[in-house]
Amino acid sequence: MTRVIIYSGKGGTGKTTISAATATLLARSGQRTLVLSSDPAHSLADAIGMPISRDRPTAIVPGLYGLEVDTIHEWRHNLGGFQQFVASTYSNRGVDRSTAAELANQPGLDEILALQRVMDEAQSGRWDTIVLDTAPTGNTLRLLAYPEMIIGGDAGKKFFRVYRGLANFARPFKRDLPDDRFFDEVGTLLERMDQLANFLLSPKISLRLVLNPEKLPLLETRRAYTFLNLYGMMVDAVMVNKILPRRSDLGPYFDYWVSLQRGYLQEIDDSFSPTPIFRTVLQEGEPIGIPALEAIGRATFGEADAGALLFDERPIWLEQWNEEGEPGQYELCMKLPFMEEDETVNLSRSGPDLGISLGRIQRTIALPRILYDCVMGNHRYEDGVLRLEFREGSGAAPADEPDELRVEAA
Ligand SMILES: Nc1ncnc2c1ncn2[C@@H]1O[C@H](COP(=O)(O)OP(=O)(O)OP(=O)(O)O)[C@@H](O)[C@H]1O
Ligand SMILES: [Mg+2]
Repeated sequence: MTRVIIYSGKGGTGKTTISAATATLLARSGQRTLVLSSDPAHSLADAIGMPISRDRPTAIVPGLYGLEVDTIHEWRHNLGGFQQFVASTYSNRGVDRSTAAELANQPGLDEILALQRVMDEAQSGRWDTIVLDTAPTGNTLRLLAYPEMIIGGDAGKKFFRVYRGLANFARPFKRDLPDDRFFDEVGTLLERMDQLANFLLSPKISLRLVLNPEKLPLLETRRAYTFLNLYGMMVDAVMVNKILPRRSDLGPYFDYWVSLQRGYLQEIDDSFSPTPIFRTVLQEGEPIGIPALEAIGRATFGEADAGALLFDERPIWLEQWNEEGEPGQYELCMKLPFMEEDETVNLSRSGPDLGISLGRIQRTIALPRILYDCVMGNHRYEDGVLRLEFREGSGAAPADEPDELRVEAA
């Protein structure tokens, strides 16, 4: 089966650069490699320094192919009837046609179409490895987990079936009802999303989070890390890019930035260990073209195999149970294998984050959203796993108010 590596992260952090660099290294090591992007702005072509087809994989150097998925084309091809119907509904509400066509591109669906293309290429048997740049956001993954949400859950699904029959019956009398093409496409889309959700959870697929040593990317990446782990996706590396070099000739102006970054690098370690963390220094020029990409790839991965599954554990998960009539109860579980049985754990909850300190070890994780309003209860440590109880209910501090509390280990 094809290995798939997905790079995800906030805008401008270096996803395209690191994707292209990874793919270049893999092609150089003899693997048949495809780097695929769904960014309509041709950024992959810009990074590689040559035009790339939007239709079929373009040969770049021996073993390396590139493809920029054209989601407009994929839309027309897969969802023309859906788009037409949505656009006509909007235009019946007075929205002009071109705006209506634009609105019909549902957020998230672009990414889903790109992922479908990845799935098709992976199943073609043509590639050893596929690297995907411009990756799904948490929202897209939520959509994939429950594809029927697009039409309103289980109730929507039933309604959808009945509605199809009614629409066929009523169409002669009322013009703006969706036709068979619409229903077929939406039905196919839902099925394919189901397959995609399974595909994404298969053991040869992993996600790598790209960030810079700065406050906001760190906070967002922490949330993404928690969400992805709960969702069951393998996060096998965290890539920290654009690190300022330590050099005396940078001058005092940069001293402040260098020390600020040093603080964030430590926080990044505290947030994502034991997931492997790779660091990339801010280069002297923009890394454009294959030689520059290969160099940045080698500097980033060093001796590690850029294509390997670099980590295959699930460090955070959530267990839940509901007793009849009782508020929901959860156990947030974290692997902390380095802890002693009788070690004291200090927990401090600050808004959406949870700080854990054990002796000299400090960890910070973003709480899953569902726990924001829950009250934290006891905790215990068993078989290398720290388990924290949470209970739905009143009295929890609003998410943005720090709520310090300390609990001693039993
Ligand atoms: N380590 C680095 N050193 C110097 N320049 C870099 C480095 N990494 C990325 N860049 C430059 O930073 C810019 C943004 O990088 P890139 O396009 O890879 O980010 P991105 O995450 O894909 O952005 P977007 O979210 O817009 O797609 C580019 O001009 C790229 O050449
Ligand atoms: Mg990009």
